[in-house]
Amino acid sequence: MRSLRVTVALTASALLGALLYPVVDTAVARPPDLAVGTQAAAAERAAASEIAVEPGLDWRDTDGNLIEAHGGGLLKQGDTYYWYGEDKAASHNGFAGINVYTSKDLKRWTAKGQALAPQGEGDLGPQNVGERPKVVYNAKTGKYVMWLHIDDRATYLTARVGVAVADSPGGPYTYRGSFRPLERQSRDMTLFQDRDGRAYLVFSSANEAGKPNSRLRIAQLSDDYLSVSGQTHAFPENQYREAPAVAHIGNTYYMLTSFTTGWSPNPVKYATARSLRGPWSEWKSLVDDSEVTYRSQPTAILEVNGSHGTTHMYLGDRWVPSKLNESRYVWLPLQLGGGKARMEWHDRWYLDLARGTWRPETNDTGAVFQAEARTSTVSGAARFQPCGEAQCARGLGNGDSLTMTVRSPQAGRKTLRLYYVNDHTEMRRGHLAANGGEAVVRNFPPTDGRVRWLEVTATLKKGANSLTLGNPSEGAPDLDFVTVQS
Ligand code: GLA
Repeated sequence: MRSLRVTVALTASALLGALLYPVVDTAVARPPDLAVGTQAAAAERAAASEIAVEPGLDWRDTDGNLIEAHGGGLLKQGDTYYWYGEDKAASHNGFAGINVYTSKDLKRWTAKGQALAPQGEGDLGPQNVGERPKVVYNAKTGKYVMWLHIDDRATYLTARVGVAVADSPGGPYTYRGSFRPLERQSRDMTLFQDRDGRAYLVFSSANEAGKPNSRLRIAQLSDDYLSVSGQTHAFPENQYREAPAVAHIGNTYYMLTSFTTGWSPNPVKYATARSLRGPWSEWKSLVDDSEVTYRSQPTAILEVNGSHGTTHMYLGDRWVPSKLNESRYVWLPLQLGGGKARMEWHDRWYLDLARGTWRPETNDTGAVFQAEARTSTVSGAARFQPCGEAQCARGLGNGDSLTMTVRSPQAGRKTLRLYYVNDHTEMRRGHLAANGGEAVVRNFPPTDGRVRWLEVTATLKKGANSLTLGNPSEGAPDLDFVTVQS
């Protein structure tokens, strides 16, 4: 495990500041409370044209609902981004429609309903899946064309692609039916539109013996993008690559894929080529092989061009197999260039749309106070135990909780950062309350052996405040420490 202590250690001046603030309890004007603060707090810290991206957290649309656009793809038309993806709100995997969201800043997403609606039976019926939708615009026909993986929900043996067409990017899309491209099996797929206007289908296909997913193939689309015109490349057989995503930078194509382990994540690899026809390099590591791509699987690469550069953003899905509606999105900056690709984790990073640049969260955490969980009081079966290099309060939840003191230099709305561990594969819910106020419930994503943080805002008194963390009915996350941010 990386040394978190180094990166989050308080700066000397911040520590001094924290020590100098007199701890005096003062009366509060209204009951202290906690709120979901991540978005607001992040927005405050970001420059005007920057957005703060927080992979794996709850991302909500402008109506406050969780965004349902899994296995998705993004299309930019004018100054608007369209995000198409699978609706998994019902948690089961049956086809429930392809949702579309729009945004001008990649942060505030407005739900525009279903671009492709489910049908009572057939390809788009509940016995099928419709996965990994991708949309391209055909300048010759003036049509928006959506391709998606159509399969039998129980067996995944249909292995076809479906095509739907619309006159405007938001749809509604009219379904035209499904087929096997080049008469071959097609499961995970993506569309890639090259600079010259040619578009391609990249699809997990079979070898001559019909072994599912054995061979990844590339096929060029017909001029109207409604079918394929021929095979561009077939990767060697028995590689079992899926979840493809492509970028073209300078004179090099980069392709990301995962191995085929169903909804479970594995270390994503990349290959490069000077031409889509190949030769393609072997598959190389994008992340440390100890990482399962930060618990995610690729779905697309988004290119953001600005006045000062280009950022390639990895769009991935963090599937939760047992509860697909708990799946979240992992968007991270890719470092692509010179034939090499790399991706690292960031609890939060900033994308500047106008400049086309990105930056990590600064090392100066902005903390003015830090309280270790091990200084707290725990109830019931909760206890203090190592979590990585740290000493966490563990066994919280199921009625047991922690109470700790956090100090604030001023009274008012403050951002608290909770450094926590969740070693499970599903969200853990933490109920948080300040000074005995009403508890708010936050989702704490899995941390994969790391300590990560998320922020909440709270109305604090000047001086000492009591903070409780627990969950009356199920497990809460393990807590390492809490900071009060400046
Ligand atoms: C992989 C694919 C998904 C879906 C699941 C089903 O994760 O990438 O699109 O097909 O398998 O198990």
